[in-house]
Amino acid sequence: MATHDQIREKLDDVLVPGSMRSITKLNLVRDIEISNGKASITLVSAALNEEAQEWLKVKVGDASRQVSGVEEADVSFVEGKPGDLNRIGRVVAVMSGKGGVGKSLVTGFVALSLARRGYEVGILDGDITGPSIPRMFGIKGRPSGSDTGILPPISKLGIEIMSINLLLPNEDDAVIWRGPLIGKVITQFWEDVLWGSLDYLLVDLPPGTADAPLTVMQTLPLSGVVIVFTPQDLAAMVVRKAMQMAERMNTRIIGVVENMSYFVTPDSAKKIEIFGKSKAQDMARAAAAPVLGQLPIDPEVAALCDEGHIERYSSEALDNLAEAFLRAMPPQGK
Ligand SMILES: Nc1ncnc2c1ncn2[C@@H]1O[C@H](COP(=O)(O)OP(=O)(O)O)[C@@H](O)[C@H]1O
Ligand SMILES: [Mg+2]
Repeated sequence: MATHDQIREKLDDVLVPGSMRSITKLNLVRDIEISNGKASITLVSAALNEEAQEWLKVKVGDASRQVSGVEEADVSFVEGKPGDLNRIGRVVAVMSGKGGVGKSLVTGFVALSLARRGYEVGILDGDITGPSIPRMFGIKGRPSGSDTGILPPISKLGIEIMSINLLLPNEDDAVIWRGPLIGKVITQFWEDVLWGSLDYLLVDLPPGTADAPLTVMQTLPLSGVVIVFTPQDLAAMVVRKAMQMAERMNTRIIGVVENMSYFVTPDSAKKIEIFGKSKAQDMARAAAAPVLGQLPIDPEVAALCDEGHIERYSSEALDNLAEAFLRAMPPQGK
C-alpha cells in the first residue's frame, strides 16, 4: 500500500522553478490523500506563477506515480500566503555603529559558513538604502513570483537571498526612501517572500543605531543581534546604543565580531594590529556577550566580494566565527 510518507519522499526531489528548492522545503504541500491507487495532492500556489504551477502539476504527478501502488495522480492548487507557509527557526540581525565596518561581510560570512555546515539559511538584506548582499553573492536578475508572493533567488551554496537591489530596474539605482517606506519593504520581505523552512534567517540591518535599524527590528521577530565593529570604533557608545535598542525590542545581543582586527603579513606571517589595539574584549564585556570572532584584513576577501564569489572564501577565522556563532545561537529544536 502506498503511503503519504512514500509520496512525500518523492516530492522532496521536486524543485520549484525559479527557486531550485523543493516543494516540501518551501512548505507548498498542503495535503496528500490516497485511495484506490489514486493520489490526490493539494499544493499551495503562493508565489508561483501560472507557468510554475503547470510545470509542478506535471512533475508532482510524475513523482507520485513512481510510488508503487499509485496508478493515478491528481494535482490541484489552493491559494495561500507566503507568511503563513514560512517556518523560520532563528532570525538574527547583524548591526554596526556605522557603515563600512564589514556588517554585510559578516552577514555573508555567517550565512555561508552555516550553509556549508548543512543548515538551511536565508539572508534578508535590510539595508534598503545601501544594499550590498546580492553583489557579494553574485546574484543578478529579478526574483520570480506571482500576485501572492516572491520567490527569493538562491546562491551557489543554496542560500536564499532577498534584497531591494533585486527588485530595482538598475542595480546601481539609489534608494532614497525614508523610514515608513523602508518599514513597508521590510514587512513585505518578511510576509510576502516565500522563504519556506529555514534554520536561520540573517538580517543585514541598515548601519547605525538610529531609526532605520529600529524599524527593521520592530518588524521582525528577532532571536538576537550580532554587533560588528572595528578597532577604530567608539566601542563603548556603539555597545550602549545597541543594548538600548535590543532591550526596547525585547531581544538580546548574541555576541560581538571584530572586523579588520589585524593583518597578517604574507612574508613573515606576523600579526599587525593596523587599526590599533583590539577592542574585542572591551566590547564583549560591555555587551555581556561573547566575542564570536576576530576577522583579519584580507585583500582576498575584498576581491572575492567585488567579484560576487564570497562563497569561495574559507579561512580559520571564518571557521572559528561559525563555531562560536553556533554555540551562542544553536538551531531551534536541535
Ligand atoms: N576583513 C576585511 N578584509 C578586507 N576587506 C574587507 C574586510 N571587511 C570588509 N571589507 C571590505 O570593506 C568594504 C565594506 O564592507 P561591508 O561589509 O560592505 O561594510 P558595511 O556593510 O558595514 O557597510 C567592502 O568592500 C568589503 O569587501
Ligand atoms: Mg552593508
